[in-house]
Amino acid sequence: MNRATSDSEVLKVGIDLGTSRSSISAANGQRHMVQSYVGWPSDMVARKVLGRDVLVGAEALEHRPMLNLRRPLERGLIKEGSDQDEKAVRELVRRLLELAVPAGSSPALAIHAVVGVPAETLRVNRQNLRRILAGQVASTMIVSEPFAVAYGLDSLVHTMVIDIGAGTTDFCVLMGRFPTEDDQRTLSAAGDAVDRHLHGLIEERYTDASVSIHMVRAWKERHSFVGESAPVVVDVPVRGKPTRIDITEPMRRACESLLEPLRETMLDLIARVEPEYQSRIRNNVILTGGSGLIRGLGAELQRALGELGGGRVRVVKDPVFVGSDGGLSLARDADDEYWKRLSP
Ligand SMILES: Nc1ncnc2c1ncn2[C@@H]1O[C@H](COP(=O)(O)OP(=O)(O)OP(=O)(O)O)[C@@H](O)[C@H]1O
Ligand SMILES: [Mg+2]
Repeated sequence: MNRATSDSEVLKVGIDLGTSRSSISAANGQRHMVQSYVGWPSDMVARKVLGRDVLVGAEALEHRPMLNLRRPLERGLIKEGSDQDEKAVRELVRRLLELAVPAGSSPALAIHAVVGVPAETLRVNRQNLRRILAGQVASTMIVSEPFAVAYGLDSLVHTMVIDIGAGTTDFCVLMGRFPTEDDQRTLSAAGDAVDRHLHGLIEERYTDASVSIHMVRAWKERHSFVGESAPVVVDVPVRGKPTRIDITEPMRRACESLLEPLRETMLDLIARVEPEYQSRIRNNVILTGGSGLIRGLGAELQRALGELGGGRVRVVKDPVFVGSDGGLSLARDADDEYWKRLSP
């Protein structure tokens, strides 16, 4: 199917391992996304009904009542010492590779992967992650998600990337080299925290409504906003009866809970940069990640930059593959010597 794959022994890929979604971009042109859920049948009956030992992605989510369901990168960490989480990461990567590597490829095909993970995972789990992936890829380079994004957008100098995902918001200041710890920050104020907050506010206001976190997340993904919005009205069962409820205020409050922590960290990171570069960085802030799509958020952060003399925030409109594409560019740019050093 693809000459580059069948003729050479190496396939370079970029993988973005996210809390809620993971994606792969491969040098053979394949690009795939799976939701970061892995589930095992919870008993013998579930095993029989499902006919499989493990389910990954949207399928796992759909059949969750029959599964022990994991989201292995929840809160940005692979839970330490959890065999189950390690197995789940392995299954997730196996699925991504299955999708990207054509069936019938040579068994000798070596995968060279750049893997983007939340910055916190990188700090705590780098060795662990390398070990987990060792059976599936020949060489692994692990980088933080916002760095992979910056690489993909070719914005490697005088840039700040703010990646608002599900489990974490990762900040990274790019100064034209690999970022150090000091250039990066991680906050737990991100999509999952908004979901929990919104869920709580709705339950408080409509005590009889039955609302699951999955329903709340779906409403947020359609109607999220900060600032002004038309009324947000949704249907929920109230004592079994479908009922319309107005969730405009809860939606505003839950989404706006991100503003203060984001503003504070953004301004603080900028203030730490050497003064002559600060204004360039202020004018080159990139907002990415699924939660970067909250309506009005980019504009609010840009307004906050006014406190330091003004700036510009650009929102990545289609953030799903931007991290894995960046990983792939990096995988391509790293020469053979570099990869050799990364091999176990
Ligand atoms: N249109 C939207 N408006 C608001 N939030 C959204 C929208 N689309 C997706 N999200 C939220 O974005 C988050 C997922 O974003 P993303 O895929 O960047 O996260 P991730 O990479 O899996 O997580 P992390 O980077 O924390 O590991 C979820 O919380 C999801 O509900
Ligand atoms: Mg992410």
